[in-house]
Amino acid sequence: MAFPQGFLDELVARNDIVDVVSGYVQLTRKGANLFGLCPFHSEKTGSFSVSPDKQIYYCFGCKRGGGVINFIMEEENLPFPDAVRFLAKRAGMEVPEEDGDREAGRRRQRLLDLNRDAARFYYRTLQQPEGRAVQEYLDRRKIRKATAVNFGLGASPDAWDALILAMTKQGYTKAELLEAGLAVQNRNGGLYDKFRNRLMFPVIDVRGDVVAFGGRVLDKSEPKYMNSQETPVYSKRRVLYGLNLAKKSKRPNIILCEGNIDVVTLHQAGFDNAVASMGTALTVEQTRLLSRFTKELVLCYDNDNAGRIATERALEILNNSEFSVKVLQLPRRRTEDGELVKQDADDFIKFQGKDAFEALLTGSENGIEFRMAQIAGKYDLSGDEARVAYCEEVSELLSALANPVEREIYATRAAETAKITPEAMKLEVQRALRRRNSREKRQELRRDLNPAAQLQPKERELRYDNIRSARAEEGVLRLLTQDASLFPDAPPLTEEQFSSPLLGRAFRLLWQAKAAGRVPSLPALGEQFSQEEMNHLTGICQQPESLKNGRQALADYIRIVQAEAAKRSGGAVDPLLAATEKYKDKKGTGGKQHGNE
Ligand code: GTP
Ligand code: MN
Repeated sequence: MAFPQGFLDELVARNDIVDVVSGYVQLTRKGANLFGLCPFHSEKTGSFSVSPDKQIYYCFGCKRGGGVINFIMEEENLPFPDAVRFLAKRAGMEVPEEDGDREAGRRRQRLLDLNRDAARFYYRTLQQPEGRAVQEYLDRRKIRKATAVNFGLGASPDAWDALILAMTKQGYTKAELLEAGLAVQNRNGGLYDKFRNRLMFPVIDVRGDVVAFGGRVLDKSEPKYMNSQETPVYSKRRVLYGLNLAKKSKRPNIILCEGNIDVVTLHQAGFDNAVASMGTALTVEQTRLLSRFTKELVLCYDNDNAGRIATERALEILNNSEFSVKVLQLPRRRTEDGELVKQDADDFIKFQGKDAFEALLTGSENGIEFRMAQIAGKYDLSGDEARVAYCEEVSELLSALANPVEREIYATRAAETAKITPEAMKLEVQRALRRRNSREKRQELRRDLNPAAQLQPKERELRYDNIRSARAEEGVLRLLTQDASLFPDAPPLTEEQFSSPLLGRAFRLLWQAKAAGRVPSLPALGEQFSQEEMNHLTGICQQPESLKNGRQALADYIRIVQAEAAKRSGGAVDPLLAATEKYKDKKGTGGKQHGNE
């Protein structure tokens, strides 16, 4: 399924990385590179760099990087061939399609078609006698007809193969039904419908494709929800239920709640900016998706323990992000027997009404207030010891705020809670801030003093066995991508001499490009490496390398790699190499380059 390398080279050349990235990220020039806010993780100061010379991007914060194709794969959530097609279209280039690629694209489209047709089937069933039970359930939950239509809600019949029969009649195969997660195979190899006698929620992505389903039981049986498994068209980390509608909302923010029903009820009550993740904690991928539509989020999780934990985790992900975050805390509800019970957004709307919800939305606290209240809730503030402990913990929290005005405002508020003077509280925060700063400095220092640890790839599978050799191998790759003219015609190293399999493979592929008279560069090799591998390789290549002493540096690197490789191959160390090693240790200068005997 490979595209011809010449085509990929031209594709990369005609899609300048600065132009492409600028369509997604606002970039400002700093020296040779451009910087902006990283689209792949949440941050307030730009650590995302784009190098026009090397045609790569690299984030110093989250350590992701690659060429223009990788960028589109990540940003548009596309597999490699689709990212290539995307960029070809952008540059007005024709794609030399291979049968395999066309086949993969067709299969994806078939799955999407199948999902859409299944959604239509469930929708139709809801209007028919077989859908009576689900319709009655919707009535009980006070979901109106127009709302159900808006969300495309449906009913799966109370039968073992109703969907399978309908879809095979429309020409879909059993294999396709299995791959889409709509049918399940029993032990004898027979198929049956995965969703039976359930209220069906089609999950529609922001492009409008039906990518998955959630199905809720109509009674108290378990499991309450069945959701589609991961498929080639569905990754739950990257989807938010209701975002296809919420993205069109005129409201300034987006409300994150827990359940599908919460989303539906909120929209019905006029809060058409509500979304929910499909039973997962908020993910970074979802925040990236959200940032296309809003910079203000309201967390509205259930007011039970699980909901509070979900809120804490979401706040952690969103901490120091570009989003402003509020927490809408739903009060507990008192039942007729005077018992206090948990309620979610759906319950609240039903019992208290939409005006009450609007009031909560307006008055919702920001993330800091929520966390301060959580801390205060842990202590009985009538005791002195508890007040001291509260002050310590809350000052630790406030010291993490980057904005001094915010620190001051919340310190004053914390002082009221602890019944101490604002001055005392501010001093406490100052001290926590100093502790935090020196802690961070110490960590930085430790990192600087331990370049070996710093140099190790993040992914365990990519870890270096031989740091000394790997560092030199990195240097070779860096020089090869920056100035291939430093290299002789014959390869000075073999792939096997590299201690790191990844770096060896990168060398071989880059060298192939050079040998074919092309420019050896990473961006056109996107297909050959996983995103993790690409992240690491880009991290290496973005590091500065002085080309002034390039020739000498290259000779040193090659000598080290060869020496370490010789040690590995049974200790048969070339005596000449050993001598140069010693020489280098004494004089601290580079040795001579050894040819490739
Ligand atoms: P009700 O109000 O009880 O009808 O449900 P809800 O829509 O408010 O959902 P709830 O808050 O109970 O659950 C939140 C989300 O978690 C749901 O939308 C599902 O995606 C997921 N979920 C809940 N229960 C289950 C389950 O039993 N299995 C799976 N796989 N997911 C579940
Ligand atoms: Mn609910």
